[in-house]
Amino acid sequence: MRNFEFYNPTKIVFGANTIAKLADLVPATAKVLILYGGNSAKTTGTLDEVKAALGTRVVMEFAGIEPNPSYETMMQAVELVRREKLDFLLAVGGGSVIDGTKFVAAAVGFDGEPWEIMQKRGRNVKSALPFGTVLTLPATGSEMNSGGVIMRKSTHEKFSFMNRLVFPQFSILDPSKTYTLPKTQIANGIADAFVHTIEQYLTFPVQALPQDRFAEGLLQSLIEIAPQAMSMEPDYDNRANLMWVATLALNGLIGAGVPQDWATHMIGHEITALYGIDHARTLALVLPSVLNVQREQKRAKLLQYAERVWHITDGSEEQRIDAAIVRTREFFESLGIKTRLSEYQLGEESILAILAQLEAHGMTALGEHQDVTLERTRVILQQAL
Ligand code: NZQ
Ligand code: ZN
Repeated sequence: MRNFEFYNPTKIVFGANTIAKLADLVPATAKVLILYGGNSAKTTGTLDEVKAALGTRVVMEFAGIEPNPSYETMMQAVELVRREKLDFLLAVGGGSVIDGTKFVAAAVGFDGEPWEIMQKRGRNVKSALPFGTVLTLPATGSEMNSGGVIMRKSTHEKFSFMNRLVFPQFSILDPSKTYTLPKTQIANGIADAFVHTIEQYLTFPVQALPQDRFAEGLLQSLIEIAPQAMSMEPDYDNRANLMWVATLALNGLIGAGVPQDWATHMIGHEITALYGIDHARTLALVLPSVLNVQREQKRAKLLQYAERVWHITDGSEEQRIDAAIVRTREFFESLGIKTRLSEYQLGEESILAILAQLEAHGMTALGEHQDVTLERTRVILQQAL
């Protein structure tokens, strides 16, 4: 196992009817900005519950954070916070609202043009406003990590940033808040959490037994949860498990002390920036080909994944690896998620565009060995056609 430091200060408040606890979680004298997305926080009644729990505190609202939150939109929130001298942020939504809130938290006191935060991937953040979250969509893990992803619409750039100052102070996870999610978002959440786990697990062995077993447990939980979740019959325990798995998949625990990949995510971000395809759906396009193209480097872990996650024990090594990749693709497809670029009417010309974006953003040596060069990414994308 590699050396590591593990730090995660986010308090999790988990369970049904927990939004009322905001009354104690948010400082009594705070001047609060509630940030949310399009309409769901309002139509589901969650926003009203949040406001009721905040009682007599000074509260303002910022609505309209889009999926794949944009720098352009979030800068309006930054100006509002500065103008009104608000001092506490509360995100009510999914990964996009939480990521956007993290950016605002870091940008408000930033000395300089806030896009520099994204260009430096968060290394230059010196202060951040405190914030909490009310999670309504289990998927990204943003509710318990220090990362965020922001898109600049004008330039089609989608960059991620990290800084320990943007861990949420607390996150409220009420599984019953997921009942209003459309099927496509449930599918996205399962796929995103699955790929987060894979990116930290399916690399090469470093004798990290608990991390491996933990990751395999999360993958198997997702496989077990998926059919019930996709049936869209509201089931509290099913949603509770989905919500907690998605959080655990990217809160730092399974990634501590092990090599990490993230090539699929970096390529996926460019696909979203260029073509607007949902984050999780881009991952399902890329991951099966990454596993195939990187099969030599990932051989030992692919065999372990095949046996322990999919119970594939028959056949030669190549056959077992092939079968594990097929099962992975079929899993995404069982969620109604396409796994081929051509199914989005994307062809060779899109590969050139994606490669150009990766090159422009310095994404030319990806993966746990930094050996996913542009040339190899070309092969990955060609296999994804
Ligand atoms: O905008 P509203 O009307 O609220 O609708 C949202 C949105 O359209 C809807 N929704 C959310 N909760 C709902 C609901 N609809 C009904 N009932 C509810 N309870 O769902 C739609 C999608 O929401 P979004 O927040 O965009 O989805 P997700 O949580 O999948 O977040 C995706 C974003 O997170 C980033 C992605 O790149 C993408 O920008 N990621 C963030 C990460 C992180 N911070 O660690 C890691 C991930 O790998 C990912 O990159
Ligand atoms: Zn993701």
